[in-house]
Amino acid sequence: MIGESASIVAGCLQHLKGLVRPGVTTAELDEEARKYIEARGGKCAFKGYRGYPANICASVNEEIVHGIPGNRPLKSGDVVSLDVGVKKDGYFGDAALTVPVGEVPAETKRLLEVTQAALVKGLEEARPGNRLGDVGHAIQKLVEDAGFSVVRSLVGHGIGREMHEEPQVPNYGMPGKGQKLQAGMVLAIEPMVNQGGPDTLLLDDDWTVVTRDGSVSAHFEHTVAVTADGPVILSRA
Ligand code: MF3
Ligand code: CO
Repeated sequence: MIGESASIVAGCLQHLKGLVRPGVTTAELDEEARKYIEARGGKCAFKGYRGYPANICASVNEEIVHGIPGNRPLKSGDVVSLDVGVKKDGYFGDAALTVPVGEVPAETKRLLEVTQAALVKGLEEARPGNRLGDVGHAIQKLVEDAGFSVVRSLVGHGIGREMHEEPQVPNYGMPGKGQKLQAGMVLAIEPMVNQGGPDTLLLDDDWTVVTRDGSVSAHFEHTVAVTADGPVILSRA
């Protein structure tokens, strides 16, 4: 069932987080992820998705999402967003987190804390009877009150037998607006938060999305089931 793919994702992210340090390359993290996932009977869901060339996404500093792992070593003061997707027994799981490398500035630490807190706020709204606007608004309000900005050109998504299913899950919105959530829905909620402005650019590799103003960005994501008993985070570590 779907919980299994998401729990492999969760374990993989914790494994990778433990490997992040100055000098490690994102290609090394990519290879570690592949081994971890395949050892548990899963498949890397991103590999080959619309031609995506790697197993995970590793987005450094001003890279928001979809950074392609490569031979650039991480250095102290960087942040790296790790995004992992797994397919197992026909179901997908998807989650992400942003990790500081060595010592990072206080304002960067705050960016990571705020983005993670925004994800938690969004997850709390994922309950039957609420609407997608309640999820997006909760995320947007926390982020903007903290003085950061929410990326609008990319959104979260439904997930299940496909990695990307309906509905789209924006990280912004108005309370009480949008599609109503129902028990049984599974969502990937994934705030992307910039230290500067919200605008994005796509690099020439056709994958890497960066902040237009070059400011640092963070990304946290969980796969969550909407149930009568409230949100159940399937990708919880
Ligand atoms: N977690 C990402 C998302 O939900 C998936 C990465 S896109 C891929 O959009 F192409 F790399 F798979
Ligand atoms: Co996703």
